[in-house]
Parts: sequence; structure tokens; C-alpha cells
Amino acid sequence: MTEQCSKPLVIGLAGFGTVGGGLARLLEENADLIRQRTGRDMVVKKVLVRNAGKARSVALPRGAQLTTNPADLTDDPEIDVLVELMGGIEAAGSIIDRALDKGKHIVTANKALLAEKGIALLEKAGRLGRILRYEASVAGAIPVVAALKESLTGNRISTLMGILNGTSNYILSEMTSSGLDFNVALRQAQELGYAEADPTLDIDGHDAAHKLTILIQLAYGVAYPFTAMPVRGIRGLSSMDIRLAREFGYRIKLIAQARQCATQDGRAPRLEAGVFPALVHHTLLLARVGGVYNAVRVEGNAAGSLFFHGRGAGDLPTAGAVLADLVAVARDERPNNTGFVGDRLETAEVVPPAEWRSCYYVRLMVDDAPGVLRDLAGCMAEEGISMAQVIQKSDEEGHGVPLVFMTHETTEKAMSRALQHTLDRGMLREPAVYFRVLG
Ligand code: NAP
Ligand code: HSE
Repeated sequence: MTEQCSKPLVIGLAGFGTVGGGLARLLEENADLIRQRTGRDMVVKKVLVRNAGKARSVALPRGAQLTTNPADLTDDPEIDVLVELMGGIEAAGSIIDRALDKGKHIVTANKALLAEKGIALLEKAGRLGRILRYEASVAGAIPVVAALKESLTGNRISTLMGILNGTSNYILSEMTSSGLDFNVALRQAQELGYAEADPTLDIDGHDAAHKLTILIQLAYGVAYPFTAMPVRGIRGLSSMDIRLAREFGYRIKLIAQARQCATQDGRAPRLEAGVFPALVHHTLLLARVGGVYNAVRVEGNAAGSLFFHGRGAGDLPTAGAVLADLVAVARDERPNNTGFVGDRLETAEVVPPAEWRSCYYVRLMVDDAPGVLRDLAGCMAEEGISMAQVIQKSDEEGHGVPLVFMTHETTEKAMSRALQHTLDRGMLREPAVYFRVLG
């Protein structure tokens, strides 16, 4: 039996905003539980911030020193673990890199860093035998990182699908249920501490793409080139489409999805992966994920379908995930940073979006005139697209009528070519709007 360490785990906390403040509260509130689970205390020795003079709503952990100098954390030999809760890529990346060099373990919630520059850090941590944990980086309180890295290692994962951005889901839910304006809902999400420092990451889909990149690594053991991922967010989404989708029995959700396609033996997995707003049938669990909640559906060849649901953002839900990683560090668990053997991950093969197959919802603003429906059907037929349902609304505002239809399964390439035909034939009063349809 190995001897259990009983000396306090000394923490250097980089970042004392929403999540850092939540962590300070939890360390205090759950101190006895931490001792029961690890046999040790956790002590925050130093807290790094950008602006030391800023008024803060949460008190500094007892005995902690505030600093604006990263070296006070990285170069302090008493600090065992650096908890990075600053966000951003460059400064956060260099402090983690330096802390690894200085022999520290790392806990981070920084999905942007992990998705865009994380491979080098994971490789370095692996080489040096350091723990680098990141449960809070994906889906807040939902323990999906641990599930993929540990509990589901007996499964081959065919599909991962989820709602991975709390801010966008909050905005879409408020627009759907209360008819709230996009910008008002975004402001509320910012006030509640859900949004990123730069909220365009949330609404343009990049935050969900960061998280999906991390899940892909964990599920398939490959590096997915983040810049190759097709990403479309919810900016400019119209309440008309939310309303019309409801009439067809669907909700619009920002979906992150990865599917493994057939691969030749010995080749890296071929993956179809991306982030996009999609219509989700109201009977599916994903359609019922409201507010700041996130969800992840995982299909495994042994487990079948699994559905994880919980708070995807906010101070305590996220801090709880950070604390779970700290408990693992305090227990000195063996580094298992990617869930796969070896320091290097090979690169996934990317399926171009043009080849993806899906059903579509399409809204065209057209003239209410004889022959329009015939011409539209012609444009679709030219690309082999079969229409499943069509509705036409009345011309209330003089911008033409919304002609809305759902298609049977087709490729993205065929859909964009067919829509180009409608444009070339002068049928459109406004650019076409189209979304994938799930289930
Ligand atoms: P936040 O509220 O904006 O707090 C960031 C903290 O880091 C602040 O204390 C800030 O200092 C400090 N900081 C930022 N840049 C710094 C720099 N260059 N040098 C020193 N200190 C710096 O952010 P947050 O919402 O807590 O998010 C932190 C991390 O957790 C991010 O990676 C985010 O993506 C991730 N995350 C957040 C949530 C959430 O719900 N908020 C959920 C999951 C993951 P000042 O206080 O002086 O400005
Ligand atoms: N801004 C992120 C979101 C925080 O809204 O989901 C949680 O990662």
C-alpha cells in the first residue's frame, strides 16, 4: 500500500473572477468534506489577478496573498498545483507552461486554450509526468470529461452530440419561451456570469467548438484541428424561424456534433464534426434542455445511448468541477490526461461539411405569385432534393411571403447548390435561411 500524503495541498489560483470566486467559496464551505475525501486540507497561498485594486464580491481565501505577477505563483516552490481560471490563450498558456516546468500539476477550465493550443501542453505534462486536469472546461457541472476518460473507456464511441454553450442556450430559450429580444437575453446571461469575457465566442459558436474539440480528443484519442471545424452560431437568428420551427414541432438549438465515419484499417478516425443551429424535434430530450443547462448525448457500442444533463456555466456549478479535479490531485491520482496511452495524439481525418447528410428546414422570402412553388420544386429536383413538407405564410409586412419547407435527407453540397439556383433565378426577396434538422 502506498503511504497517503497528509500535508495540505497548496494551490496557486490564477484568476479570481466568476469561477475563481466560486472556487474560493467552495473550498471554504466544503473544507470538511475535502478532508474526509482526501485526508488533506487545501490551502490557497496566492491569487493572481490583472487588477489588484478591483472591488470583489467574494473574499480572498484566508491567508492568501493577492498578486499581479505570474512568477509569484509559478516560481513558488511551496505551490503544488496551479489552478488556471483566467481565460484567454496567450497569458494563460504561458503561465501553465512555466508552472509545468517548475514541477506543478495543473487544473484548468480554459477550453479555448485546450482546444487551440492544448495538445502541446498535454504532451508536455505527459512527458514530465504531471497531472493536467480540465473537467470544468466542458459543460460546467456535467462530469463528461471524467465519463469519457474513465467510465466509458470500454466503449467505442460512434456519436457525440450536445448543447455545449449555456449562454446561447439561455438566449434561445428566452427568445422561445418569453419572446425576449436577442440582445436583452445576452445581457442577462452576461450579468449571471455565464458568458465569456468576449461573448462573441458564445454566440458565434466558437466556445461550443472549443468544447467539442476537447470531447473529440477524449472520445477518439485524436487531435482534431480546431481551425478545420465548421462553426455557425446563433447571431442574427430570427424570431420568425423560432416561431415557424415550432409550427413544425421543433425547437432551434445550438448543436455541437461529432460522428465517426467508416475508416480504413490502421487509419486515424474519419470524423464529421461541427457546430450549427439545428431544429430538434420537441419529443427529443435535447429539445427540452432549457436556460443555461447543457446536455451531451453519447452513443457507445456497449452502453448504447447515454444522456448527460446539467448546469453548463455559472460560478458554483463550474467551481464544483474544478474542485473535483483538485481532489484527484490531492489524492495524487496517476496522470491520465487524455485517457489514451502515450504523449502524442495522431490527427483526425476531417470529413468536409459538403459531404454531410441531413434533412433541412429552409425559409425563403418569395413573391406570392403563380409558378413560384413549381420553380422552387424544380431547383430542388435539379439537385436530387426531395421536399417533405411545405407551408406558406401570408404577406404581413410587404417583404414577400415566407415559404418554408422541410426536406428529406440530402448533402450540404446539394442544398447550397439548390439554393444558389433559387437566387440565380431571381426568386428570393432576402437571402435564404436554412438549418439542419435532427431526429
Ligand atoms: P472572469 O470572470 O472574466 O475572471 C477572469 C479572472 O482572471 C479575473 O480575476 C481576472 O483578473 C483574471 N485575469 C484575466 N486575465 C489575466 C491576466 N492576463 N493576468 C492575470 N489575471 C488575469 O472569467 P470566468 O468566467 O471566471 O472564467 C474563467 C475561465 O473559466 C475561462 O477560461 C472560462 O472560459 C472558463 N469557464 C467559465 C465558466 C463560467 O460559467 N463563467 C464556465 C466554464 C469554464 P481581474 O479580476 O483583475 O480582472
Ligand atoms: N460561456 C460559457 C457558456 C461558459 O456560456 O457555456 C461555460 O463554459
